[in-house]
Amino acid sequence: MSRILVLYYSRSGNTEKMANAVAEGAKNAGIPDVELTYHVDSEDLANFDSILIGAPTYHHDMPIEMKTLFEEAAAKSVNLTGKVGGAFGSYGWSGEAPKLLLEIMKNKFGMQVIEPPLLAKYVPDGTMLDKCRALGKQVSETLMHQT
Ligand SMILES: Cc1cc2nc3c(=O)[nH]c(=O)nc-3n(C[C@H](O)[C@H](O)[C@H](O)COP(=O)(O)O)c2cc1C
Repeated sequence: MSRILVLYYSRSGNTEKMANAVAEGAKNAGIPDVELTYHVDSEDLANFDSILIGAPTYHHDMPIEMKTLFEEAAAKSVNLTGKVGGAFGSYGWSGEAPKLLLEIMKNKFGMQVIEPPLLAKYVPDGTMLDKCRALGKQVSETLMHQT
């Protein structure tokens, strides 16, 4: 049975709204095992078939929690090759974080990433939340066809 991780960080709740919608879309499309969380140990990343990350941009960067997570995963040689990766996040003016995360997932870990990332300017509106649900659905359907 496939497992999907929706990992997010959110300080003022905007990226959290996106994460909830991504998880909802994934579950409704047929994969029941969707873990929505703001913390995971680096070794545990290997236990998921898809890793979807919600990261707001602060100071032109991704949250330190996520940087540390991938630093640790690399140091411990956690194998994420071929897993489905996606990224999304709220931003104010530059929005680098989700793009940086997709780059790491693709170039360092050899994941199969869905591009471009989903970016919401501040509070995600209804259209953006629909896009988030669609991202979850796409991943769920991709995994169902793989197994
Ligand atoms: C101290 C601070 C620094 C920020 N730096 C950036 C930035 O470099 N680029 C950007 O696009 N948005 C920046 N923002 C805006 C946040 O990304 C935006 O408020 C976003 O909605 C926060 O998402 P969250 O509610 O999920 O934490 C910054 C906000 C704060 C408070």
